[in-house]
Amino acid sequence: NANLHCDSSLVGKKVVITAGATLEKIDPVRYISNFSSGKMGWAMVQAFLQRGADVTLIYGKVSVNIVPFARLTTIHVASAQEMLTVAEHEFSDADILVMTAAVADFRPKNYCPQKIKKVTGNDSYQLELVKNPDILYTLAQSKKAKQVVVGFAAETNNLLANAHTKLSNKGADMIIANDVSQDVFGSDLNEVTIITKDDPDVKLPRMNKQEIAESIVNHIIKLNSK
Ligand code: CTP
Ligand code: CA
Repeated sequence: NANLHCDSSLVGKKVVITAGATLEKIDPVRYISNFSSGKMGWAMVQAFLQRGADVTLIYGKVSVNIVPFARLTTIHVASAQEMLTVAEHEFSDADILVMTAAVADFRPKNYCPQKIKKVTGNDSYQLELVKNPDILYTLAQSKKAKQVVVGFAAETNNLLANAHTKLSNKGADMIIANDVSQDVFGSDLNEVTIITKDDPDVKLPRMNKQEIAESIVNHIIKLNSK
């Protein structure tokens, strides 16, 4: 499809993309995180750049190479709280937000500034966790009419029902429902369904993350021009 490449439909638009896993420190040598590779987010970056957008990538722990491109700004963060602070700032003058990041739902209640030691005689250790802010929800609540907010919903079961609930609960304009019951972490392939409030669900065939990203961008452009 020729118009997928070097198309100018998003020239002058600012797109904020979050990618990868957040990292929640326990002590100076340990953390809580997850298996997100950042591949889907990086594919979204490429797809938006191809359409002429100015892209700001806010990324956590990733296993993809983040390399410079014209019209791409990259900002590295660690925790969900840092990601929220940066995302709030970047989204304020943006047109589109795409949250591909796998944000840790909880973080350790207290960061221990010294390495936590085993205690002789203790065979268990309890780490208290507290809820992280919901970045997508927070930004969707404050969004202006023309701003488009897109989330990803990773589910192992009840994919479409859960994704529809997330769309309404979070106030997002679009949720990309992602079946993670099979191997998608770190994989080049993915299988998603695009969910919006007004249009019927669009199930994309299983294909590589770059093709999926290009298709998602086409759907976002349609929403953005409504
Ligand atoms: N998300 C977020 N902030 C969080 C958790 C999730 O912004 N603290 C975003 C993710 O980036 C994703 C969307 O919300 O775009 C859905 O994430 P997901 O983990 O599937 O949903 P949760 O709301 O966290 O619900 P649960 O994990 O319980 O299914
Ligand atoms: Ca979650």
